[in-house]
Amino acid sequence: MGCVLHESQTAYHHVNVSIVKGPRLTLIVHGHTTIRVPWLHTFRFAIEESISKMPGPMLDVSPSPPNVVYWDDFQDLFAESHRQGEHVAIVGPNGSGKTMMGLELCKIIGARRQRVNGRPSPVCVLQYKPRDDTLRMVLPEESWPVIKKWPPKYGEEHCIVWPRGGPPSTAASRQRAVFAPLLDKIYVEGGQTVYIPEAAYFERAQPAGLSLSGTMEQFWSTARSNKLTVISDTQRPRKVTLLMWTEPAWVIIYQLDHRDDVKHVADLVGTDFGTTIWTYLPRLGTHECLVIRRQRHPKVREVYVTRVTGVTGNNSNGRGR
Ligand SMILES: Nc1ncnc2c1ncn2[C@@H]1O[C@H](COP(=O)(O)OP(=O)(O)OP(=O)(O)O)[C@@H](O)[C@H]1O
Ligand SMILES: [Mg+2]
Repeated sequence: MGCVLHESQTAYHHVNVSIVKGPRLTLIVHGHTTIRVPWLHTFRFAIEESISKMPGPMLDVSPSPPNVVYWDDFQDLFAESHRQGEHVAIVGPNGSGKTMMGLELCKIIGARRQRVNGRPSPVCVLQYKPRDDTLRMVLPEESWPVIKKWPPKYGEEHCIVWPRGGPPSTAASRQRAVFAPLLDKIYVEGGQTVYIPEAAYFERAQPAGLSLSGTMEQFWSTARSNKLTVISDTQRPRKVTLLMWTEPAWVIIYQLDHRDDVKHVADLVGTDFGTTIWTYLPRLGTHECLVIRRQRHPKVREVYVTRVTGVTGNNSNGRGR
């Protein structure tokens, strides 16, 4: 039987394999004494069909662990393999590292020179929380202007849109007035990136949210054709439009608190990855995550990203701005 094995991250090899029936699946690879198969399940489906036609054998193939990538190397990997227009969805509980990840990805994309006009790719970060230590910690290096209204002035292409909050009873309507037209109209020639933290807040009904579920659906479904890259995070994967899980090419998952959340994400990210998510998500340590690239790429398909050691700070003190 002929089979394609993803043997290394850069090359594909055709080999002949024989399947030996038994309590476990044994592959004899003709002409090779050993074979390294990092992502066993990527060829599992190729052989599963043949196996299913054979009487008797048990298929016992658990997914091989995703490659471990250190945070610093992941940033290089992302810079190399992300293309404008590929959206990123990030999910994780409070304090898991979503904002830090989202902002780091924004920095990478923002630094990328556009082929069209040689200018960096503009990034707009939407912020509604009155305080956010992670934003405060990550941002100074970039010195992107913080603006209260949209659209930005000329020269403020990289910006944080951070409307005034004020009393909780009126904050949502004030923020809605800024974010609703932004989501409808944001677009620049050659590609714009938008980072939306806690997408569930944008979708939930006022006053607990901005009542923008229709706008968010429209935004997700038209973003790619408008050359937007959307990075979005949430703690509540079941409270956001399904498009947030089906549109992105990249999904980044921290360990989740609820089984229903795991099921929801695993179902929507796709059958290719469900087993990996169920198997490896519970093994993640604090601030570690699984990164899944749903569109095939020779360098990254699914990886396990480590935390950064030595990072300090928490979300409970300090002023956001
Ligand atoms: N990859 C990482 N490695 C080490 N520490 C991290 C990492 N990511 C985040 N942290 C630490 O965790 C803190 C919380 O991270 P962050 O604000 O990104 O979480 P969050 O998921 O966005 O939280 P929230 O749900 O409150 O918005 C950060 O201040 C930082 O100290
Ligand atoms: Mg956050």
